[in-house]
Amino acid sequence: MTEPFKADGPIGVFDSGVGGLTVLAEVRRALPAEQLCYVADGGHAPYGDRPDRLVRERAEAITDFLIQQQGAKAIVIACNTATGIASAHLRARHTLPIIAMEPAVKPAAARTSTGVIGVLATSGTLKSEKFEALRGRFHGAVQVLTQPCPGLVELIEAGDFEADALRALLADLVRPLVERGADTLVLGCTHYPLVRGLIADIAGPGVEITDTGAAVARHLRHRLAEMGLLRTAAPSDDHRYWASAPAHEASAALIRRLLGEPVTVETLPC
Ligand code: DGL
Repeated sequence: MTEPFKADGPIGVFDSGVGGLTVLAEVRRALPAEQLCYVADGGHAPYGDRPDRLVRERAEAITDFLIQQQGAKAIVIACNTATGIASAHLRARHTLPIIAMEPAVKPAAARTSTGVIGVLATSGTLKSEKFEALRGRFHGAVQVLTQPCPGLVELIEAGDFEADALRALLADLVRPLVERGADTLVLGCTHYPLVRGLIADIAGPGVEITDTGAAVARHLRHRLAEMGLLRTAAPSDDHRYWASAPAHEASAALIRRLLGEPVTVETLPC
């Protein structure tokens, strides 16, 4: 599909829930003049435990909504799982810039002193061909330990960051990586930076924690500049938010809390 690019169009950003807000924050910082349209697909979360076909269908429907109904000039897949499963498919269907996530294995491999890095991600991300290829690029140079995190996205979406169950699950996920020598942890899911402090506490002071949000925002800025699509007007506060049913109310409340802004969250019509 060939889309008409307009520099004054918004940038569409989507995730299975509130995780993509960690990417949205970096995009707002890097591109303060841009208008952003954010979709939290909480009604279909967690993507990481869903069949690939469903994740691909959701990514396609949300992308179509952002392009056709909101006039998006670029799409940010602010979800590692949807990136692994659907980014090639979306890029084959659309000509506008589609920016996707990649777990920060490359910077982690450059930084580790022990030669061991740990990647926390969803099962969907870790079993994707895209991740296998990424891991393969560093095989031999460093040891890449992987840790699927079933249940973690659900606990984060529940919004109680003080919950004992959340801390206990994180301890079970993080400690084995550190015990096996990882001195660098890669947060390979956009939800996980929301609990970075807890992860850092459990991992201890010698362990570095990395994610990809800021790099993705820089890459987006570069692509828009290259295509003459950067907006140069005054800073935009005109962002819009959608959440999917049936999780709409809960997602909306959590989005407002995490943003610290009383934004309107509309119901996603797809
Ligand atoms: N934020 C998504 C990611 O980066 C979470 C996936 C899920 O819903 O399981 O993978």
